Amino acid sequence: MFLHGTSKINENGHLEIGGCDTVELAEQFGTPLYVYDEQLIREKAREFVRAFEESGFAYQVAYASKAFSTIAMCELAAEEGLSLDVVSGGELYTALKAGYPADKIHFHGNNKSQEEIAFALDENIGCFVVDNFLELELLHQMAAERNQQVNILLRLTPGIEAHTHEYISTGQEDSKFGFTLSNGHALKAIETALDKSYYRLLGIHSHIGSQIFDSDGFIATIHVLFRFLMEVREKTGFEAGVLNLGGGFGIRYTEEDTPLPVSEHIQAMTKTIRSLFEENDYPLPEVWIEPGRSIVGEAGTTLYTVGSIKDIPGIRKYVAVNGGMTDNLRPALYQAKYEALLANRAGEEATEQVSIAGRCCETGDMLIHDIELPEVRHGDILAVLATGAYGYSMSNNYNRFRRPAVVFVKDGRAELVVKRETYDDITRNDCSIKNTVSSK
Ligand code: LLP
Repeated sequence: MFLHGTSKINENGHLEIGGCDTVELAEQFGTPLYVYDEQLIREKAREFVRAFEESGFAYQVAYASKAFSTIAMCELAAEEGLSLDVVSGGELYTALKAGYPADKIHFHGNNKSQEEIAFALDENIGCFVVDNFLELELLHQMAAERNQQVNILLRLTPGIEAHTHEYISTGQEDSKFGFTLSNGHALKAIETALDKSYYRLLGIHSHIGSQIFDSDGFIATIHVLFRFLMEVREKTGFEAGVLNLGGGFGIRYTEEDTPLPVSEHIQAMTKTIRSLFEENDYPLPEVWIEPGRSIVGEAGTTLYTVGSIKDIPGIRKYVAVNGGMTDNLRPALYQAKYEALLANRAGEEATEQVSIAGRCCETGDMLIHDIELPEVRHGDILAVLATGAYGYSMSNNYNRFRRPAVVFVKDGRAELVVKRETYDDITRNDCSIKNTVSSK
């Protein structure tokens, strides 16, 4: 068992995070509860910033807020000087409500609505990452109507896909995102953007995948993008000022996960960029990245209370907790693996193998298969580790369960940053069909 950040087992044999006893947190705030180690989030953000400072490159580290978007998280990212990647009106609204400097916000998405584009233009955000030809026309038209200059990057599909320690060059570039390089769309998009007077084309963007453990995929992408930039310069004279390499830096969910430290990713990327660009007399671009998971993933822990236990001798022992695929969709959606421990008996030896079930009416609602724990009892507090990314942000109300609360913990203090949903929240948008006048 490994623990992240400030997590440790305290003198009571309880899991402690940020100086707070998680058993007390469970009592105070109820369960399920997402607990974030604030110091660890800040350390992760600073690790990226430090690596770029050492590289000598101009840079932006844009936190990909889809991993965990709340007002408090946006406030924290802003305090750390990060830029922010948003992909929807909702994420943009959250950021602005947190007082995020609009000029540090980058707007992504493969199908931004007119309403969202108008919202972002009104707020004068830092840059749009334009994904497709429709958007390239629409955004420009809307900018022209407002007589407003817009910074854009073009999202390109370099034909490289990376997951964990594998990357593949995908010849057919089968992706719903971005302008394809190999079929000429990317070049056409650049030419179109350069032709449009309300656009300030800053450069190009690509994102090759998630939970990437080593740098090979990023390096291969840099080579492909650089070849493209050379072609663009030859054909149009345009030189990119920004190279945005997206997010995807892997984290440690279980002991088998061995991600490269982020500083090494950044070193490898910036070294490659420097040598390629300098060798070819291409001005060094600003390097932008968009980490999501690697900033918040390891900092999050979910606390559950153990309920029913069903032992089927010779087959499996199911331990049901009071959450599941409603607060962590990843095991059901991706067969994602997690580690867990009993927060109230964290120092005890594991004596049995159990499987952790959620409480949704769905056989596939299992959080962990085959985990070794001390003998689990009704009322124990189970802590599932590294749930900080795409946990709360993908949570849902299936079976009309209420979304859990979120607390930030630091130096022995716990701060409620998202309240637990109420039953009124659950029915807030429902309309009754009684007492309504028929439209017939
Ligand atoms: N930039 C772009 C354009 C992206 O599409 C993404 C993630 C990121 C940055 C941040 O990637 P990260 O550093 O967090 O890996 N729900 C899935 C992950 C979906 C990621 C989508 N895009 C999961 O739970 O694993």
